[in-house]
Amino acid sequence: MQKASHLEQLKQEKYASMILVTDRDFQRFTKKYKQVMVGNVTIPIGQAVLIKNFTPPTDYKHESFTVWSFPNRGDWSTHDGKYRGNWSPYIPHNLIWKYTKEGDTVLDQMMGSGTTLVECKLLGRNAIGVDINHNSVMVALDRLSFDYDSGVTIKTYEGDACNLDKIDDNSIDLIATHPPYAGIIPYSRAENKADLSALSIDNYLSEMYLVAKECFRVVKPGKHCSILIGDTRKHRHYVPISHNVLHIFLNAGFILKEDIIKVQHKTKQTREVWGGSYYDFYKIAHEHLYVFRKPSKNEKIQQYKHSKNLF
Ligand SMILES: C[S@@+](CC[C@H](N)C(=O)[O-])C[C@H]1O[C@@H](n2cnc3c(N)ncnc32)[C@H](O)[C@@H]1O
Repeated sequence: MQKASHLEQLKQEKYASMILVTDRDFQRFTKKYKQVMVGNVTIPIGQAVLIKNFTPPTDYKHESFTVWSFPNRGDWSTHDGKYRGNWSPYIPHNLIWKYTKEGDTVLDQMMGSGTTLVECKLLGRNAIGVDINHNSVMVALDRLSFDYDSGVTIKTYEGDACNLDKIDDNSIDLIATHPPYAGIIPYSRAENKADLSALSIDNYLSEMYLVAKECFRVVKPGKHCSILIGDTRKHRHYVPISHNVLHIFLNAGFILKEDIIKVQHKTKQTREVWGGSYYDFYKIAHEHLYVFRKPSKNEKIQQYKHSKNLF
């Protein structure tokens, strides 16, 4: 693995610092463009949306077990399924409800279409969103452009999750984020080397260590960091990306609070690539939602010892 000088390299390059992208930037952008490309998908932006519901269905009860399954992914507010790999709004909805209170600050440093930020706006939490892809930031701002006054501050940035330089140490109450899984869905053109979806698995895991270190730096002691991560197959072998990522976050200093199994429905792979036929392996249909806690100041930690030699 090349743990090498990614950050040094970034300092001389575009992602040396997070770049604030405001609603004004969005307004200017949509005067020129009515759609953006993310990966190979065209997404319309700047069109007024008629919102029917601002909340999940009224009979919905928050999750209370460690297996989560949302066959109807949720389409309230501006949530829709056009952004590839977006997570069901039920996920950030549950995390925000469980681990924060009104007025707290939530970070999604790989915000994609801004699902987490939309839920923060609806639930009265301040939010910071970051994405490496300028077009994704525009999609997120599009999804956030609806009237709903919960008095919160939401800031969006173009930037690299490995370098959250505009976010203070110990300032975030909850991280809720959903990284790409090493090349399964490409989000930007191949030349964007900072995009985690463009990396080999080894390089991806090295970068995830930088992501984990930044998470640990910005989260307040005693508060939580949640990350949804899946696995893949290469040459018919199961590649446990999630297990590696788990150990990376533990080695960064976090304590594991929950390992929630999220059932996958209608993914690109199970639906299109592996559809219908018989294979000599099982089609992957779950992801791990890890919830970590940063130890409190002076907390005596008694936890399973992790091998220091792994990374
Ligand atoms: C799985 S998607 C997130 C989807 C999001 N949860 C949603 O609901 O729309 C992963 C996102 O990570 C972004 N990304 C990839 N590498 C990144 C990096 N180094 N820093 C920040 N964002 C990155 C991609 O552009 C993509 O939008």
